[in-house]
Amino acid sequence: MASSAITNAVRFFLLLTFLVATHSQSLSNPTYSPDEVSTNLGEVESRDNGQELEFRYHDHDQLTRYLRSVSARYPALTALYSIGKSVQGRDLWVMVVSASPYEHMIGKPDVKYVANIHGNEAVGRELLLHLIQHLVTSYDTDPYIKWLLDNTRIHLMPSMNPDGFAISKEGQCDNTYGRHNARRYDLNRNFPDYFKANMKQPQPETEAIKEWISKIQFVLSGSLHGGALVASYPFDNTPSASGLNAVFQSYAHSPSIAPDDDVFRHLSLVYSNNHAKMSRGVSCKSGSPRFEKGITNGAAWYPLTGGMQDYNYIWHGCMEITLEISCCKYPPAHELAKYWQDNKQSLIKYLAEAHRGAHGFVMDENGNPVERASVKVKGREVTYHTTKYGEFWRILLPGTYRIDVSAEGYLPQEVEFIVIDNHPTLLNVTLHSAKGDLAKVLNSLPARVQKTTAPPARPTPVTAAPVSDGVIVFPED
Ligand SMILES: *[C@@H]1O[C@H](CO)[C@@H](O)[C@H](O)[C@H]1NC(C)=O
Ligand SMILES: [Zn+2]
Repeated sequence: MASSAITNAVRFFLLLTFLVATHSQSLSNPTYSPDEVSTNLGEVESRDNGQELEFRYHDHDQLTRYLRSVSARYPALTALYSIGKSVQGRDLWVMVVSASPYEHMIGKPDVKYVANIHGNEAVGRELLLHLIQHLVTSYDTDPYIKWLLDNTRIHLMPSMNPDGFAISKEGQCDNTYGRHNARRYDLNRNFPDYFKANMKQPQPETEAIKEWISKIQFVLSGSLHGGALVASYPFDNTPSASGLNAVFQSYAHSPSIAPDDDVFRHLSLVYSNNHAKMSRGVSCKSGSPRFEKGITNGAAWYPLTGGMQDYNYIWHGCMEITLEISCCKYPPAHELAKYWQDNKQSLIKYLAEAHRGAHGFVMDENGNPVERASVKVKGREVTYHTTKYGEFWRILLPGTYRIDVSAEGYLPQEVEFIVIDNHPTLLNVTLHSAKGDLAKVLNSLPARVQKTTAPPARPTPVTAAPVSDGVIVFPED
């Protein structure tokens, strides 16, 4: 079962490599124009004015005002932009928090959180506002936050489904009212799917996300949900099975193992271990599953088609996991302070993981960047692509790896490198023109490897846990 699933996965990835290569769109400039900063600050509520933020729910207008006031107050650390509009015309806001909010820092990763994709799962929406608040107010006093913002661009989207949120009700823990967008589509079932055909009509919110992540190379991402307490990692879907196999699969909930399973488990453990209680793996209520160490493979819990995390990883080489952060989907506002305390450390430490592994540049013989070179770690059949600056990132656990780097018109290059725990490995790879003479190629230098400066503190790595067996169907988190 497991080994045939892996073979299938490999075959699908080979196919995918082809699809992505033939389908390559122009990855033009990541030009989202930052929102014009509201000059009418008198309009801003006195309470949530960028100095302090109350623990209460913010409707779309209040959220918009809060984001505008922060961007006005912290122009050097934040930029506000909208990636599009919901069905009912609400802006899909993203706030960047970084020492370089307006411009990508070449060689440094962009990361993101997306919350409230299910409109009635409201905690993540407020936690991202508090994360913004915490980051901007700690930059000058907390060396770790300063290091993070100096070396990372953090894009935070408090709500991917503002229309669903608008009709959701505080105190509703378990129902699905407000979960969908205004056309009654579940946005976390609305992405192109790698394993199965997704016939759902693409929604504006999903289209906006797809365009966004095609323009910015995100290295790491978290999608915030509610209704359970677990970090769930790819794959969410499984290869199509037929006959008895399909019957078996729909009951057995076998894990669907991604090529970077070790990394995904590690990332999930970083979240659960830094969380106040997620790693205890206590079930939310009787009948709900328990998750060993607070993590699970997505398909082992329940398989789904059209989810956002598989799409991020397979289409764009962005490692995304799904963070289920509250047993109650829309708990009373007085509990928000507690949720922030429980998740604060996790939210920060998880993003820092973008600095783990190897990253670098692919260049030609003249030192010019090679865009859309394919970067593939041997044994991990998923292709990453370089940006227009020739950059690539590959989050990896300590070990020895080989990568294949190739691009049209160049001779492919294979490079061995090591990853250690506390410092990212910098890997520059020079590709030689396929037309150049052979002698030059034979004499080509191996890639240079170098250690870069480390952050002040690192989360300690944890050994991977066995995949838990989610036995009960709970398809609405
Ligand atoms: C790698 O390439 C980048 C971009 O060209 C350059 O800034 C950096 O100094 C290089 N590092 C090494 C170790 O060659
Ligand atoms: Zn959800």
